Amino acid sequence: MAKAKPFVKWVGGKGQLIEQLEALLPADFDKRENVTYIEPFVGGGAMLFYMLQAHPNIKSAVINDINSDLITCYRVVRDNPTELVASLSEIQKEYYALGSEEERKAMFMQVRDRYNTKALGDIENTTLFFFLNRTCFNGLYRVNKSNKFNVPFGKYATPTICDASTIYADSEVLQNVEILCGDFEETIKYAKGDTLFYFDPPYRPLSSTSSFNDYTKEAFNDDAQRRLKLFCDRVNEQGYQFMLSNSDCLGKDGQDRFFDDLFAEYTINRVWASRNINAIASKRGKLTEILVHNYGIGSRQEKAYLLHEQPTPRVADYECTYGTGI
Ligand SMILES: C[S@@+](CC[C@H](N)C(=O)[O-])C[C@H]1O[C@@H](n2cnc3c(N)ncnc32)[C@H](O)[C@@H]1O
Repeated sequence: MAKAKPFVKWVGGKGQLIEQLEALLPADFDKRENVTYIEPFVGGGAMLFYMLQAHPNIKSAVINDINSDLITCYRVVRDNPTELVASLSEIQKEYYALGSEEERKAMFMQVRDRYNTKALGDIENTTLFFFLNRTCFNGLYRVNKSNKFNVPFGKYATPTICDASTIYADSEVLQNVEILCGDFEETIKYAKGDTLFYFDPPYRPLSSTSSFNDYTKEAFNDDAQRRLKLFCDRVNEQGYQFMLSNSDCLGKDGQDRFFDDLFAEYTINRVWASRNINAIASKRGKLTEILVHNYGIGSRQEKAYLLHEQPTPRVADYECTYGTGI
């Protein structure tokens, strides 16, 4: 059986940070018997798929995202994998049969227009979502102010549009996962007993041009970051644990203490992460990111994962590698 892993490529995907996130889980995490895991900004779900396979003591899991089409994909993968695979295999055949780049681009534009009608059934919507994710530029998902997907054609020779084994593996792992669509604050209702939240919100831009966070038509601005911090306080006050990732503004600009001040009462670790969203290859450098949490990590903390040591190798198994040259 293939490993469950992200079925879409998603900006901010955590594939390369998994080892560092694992090292910063609560020290006694594996000794607990009945854990609830909640991911309020699930995106591509690299951490979700990792956690569900690596930690069988997670007996209940809840995921959420504000992107309703992405959430429909999760539900279709969980509930209708066979129909989805048939539909993806058909669209892939149609795409591969086109001889020239012009013809493929024309099909891409047609699919994009149809997807943007927002009037499709769940299987077709998910099929077109996967198609666009694999054939658009850099696998980005970006919408304009009218909520229309507007990423251009990506020119990949033979993108894998239908990855049946991943879909079946993901479907199995998602069987007992509660899948929600809405604002992150709604997820608190699902916390019970021993609960760990992992927050991976849209990152705070490090400069006005360098960072991508247009996942939705409403930008996730500094007020939203502060609202998330107040939500972390609620999680903490109710006795639950959380871990949160974000960009490291202080690491980039020694004056910008936005997160260091905001999360001053919690623990902040800095880790290496490579970010791949800059269109210019030479600018896709290694950056640091922050990981904030409200618990001690004790013996689980492995110094090798922290900033002053060498960056860790990548965990290829959990990376999403669709498309080429990304
Ligand atoms: C950085 S991405 C998450 C990356 C993801 N964890 C991964 O591994 O691929 C942030 C996600 O937050 C979602 N989002 C933005 N605003 C939100 C909100 N107010 N509530 C819930 N989700 C939101 C976006 O749609 C996007 O999928």
